[in-house]
Amino acid sequence: MTDAPTAAPPAPRPYSPGLEGIVAGETSLGYVDGEHGRLLYRGYRIGDLVEHGSYPAVANLLWTGDWDAKHRLSTAPIPDAVMTILRALPKDAKPMDALRTAVSAWGATQALPWPPTVEQARALTAFSPSALAAFARLRAGEAPVEPDPSLDLVEGFLYQLKGVRPDAGTARALDAYFIVGAEHGFNASTFTARIVTSTRSDIASAVAAAIGTMKGPLHGGAPSEVVDQLSQVGSADHAEAWVRETLDKGERLMGFGHRVYRAYDPRAAALRKVAEGMEHRPDWLQLAIDVEDVALRVLAEKHPERALKTNVEYYAAPVLMGVGLTPDLFPATFSLARHAGWTAHALEQAADNRLIRPDVNYVGPAERDLPSV
Ligand code: ACO
Repeated sequence: MTDAPTAAPPAPRPYSPGLEGIVAGETSLGYVDGEHGRLLYRGYRIGDLVEHGSYPAVANLLWTGDWDAKHRLSTAPIPDAVMTILRALPKDAKPMDALRTAVSAWGATQALPWPPTVEQARALTAFSPSALAAFARLRAGEAPVEPDPSLDLVEGFLYQLKGVRPDAGTARALDAYFIVGAEHGFNASTFTARIVTSTRSDIASAVAAAIGTMKGPLHGGAPSEVVDQLSQVGSADHAEAWVRETLDKGERLMGFGHRVYRAYDPRAAALRKVAEGMEHRPDWLQLAIDVEDVALRVLAEKHPERALKTNVEYYAAPVLMGVGLTPDLFPATFSLARHAGWTAHALEQAADNRLIRPDVNYVGPAERDLPSV
């Protein structure tokens, strides 16, 4: 005989599912001002960084706090052990799985003591584009291309992917995408990287876990779905009917709306400008612009209570297609861009570390005896 089960004591502390609205840390890296549509990296406006900077300069700003517009970083060679693993992957593996595996294997080839350093952040950020490019070529039956140290990181990535040097406009467009994707506050993958770092685990483990988090469809972004939707629209004169039909069916327009932004996403504005200036503009960029006008008008009509504006994914689609990436490479390319932010957060976490370990409300059975046999 035991005492009757006692109920668990009620939770005395506030609880927010998904941690929504909970402040879980402090950062001096990125400021997301959703109300006014502002995104700042260490205080600098995203539009100015895209106009005057490059991805290596922005990554260096995030890692060190110093602005040097001329800062350079090239892609790095792939260690032999990692190449062996990339060759062993099935050709139909998802690029995100390949990238996560490559980062994990890279970590096994390095001595990565805690705390993480800027040099480690730089080395990992330089390695991953080579790994993704190599996997993309191997699955197509092509030989990987060695890094060209004379090229900056994004140009080098395109070179290793295609086997030819991209033109300046193409490299510039993808570089702009990398800049706007570099950092965005305490999103799920960045928070993951900080949790891993807080246990005094190494930077490769933090980034591998972050890639795994970004792989989920709720996080990894919607640009390939934007591509699908624009091909469904087909032509500008069909836009109004398509938008209304889609919303009437209760479906969402990809590339619109955001959990934080209530104003036009500043990253979308910067990317639109870049997409319009591209030498090889994708055929359907004009279609995207026409559909956007219609979508914003109809969304405002259907949701007067909620500001639903263009988000970064909408104009990421023409930029990524325009530089010649296939849609299945979009999420992994987004992950390459986010390396700067993930690793900068690892450095920031380690500099003032406290193990991240929240509490949970227990809602299971009260204490009880095992059933007797
Ligand atoms: N198209 C149509 N209706 C929309 C859209 C959209 N894109 N976004 C929100 N709504 C509507 C919802 O249907 C809902 O209406 P209801 O209350 O009548 O059901 C209302 O607006 C609020 O929607 P929520 O899901 O509560 O808004 P939330 O802020 O949580 O969602 C999200 C943000 C997930 C991005 C949403 O806007 C969406 O699904 N957008 C389309 C997908 C997309 O573009 N994702 C990329 C986001 S950017 C990024 O992740 C980097």
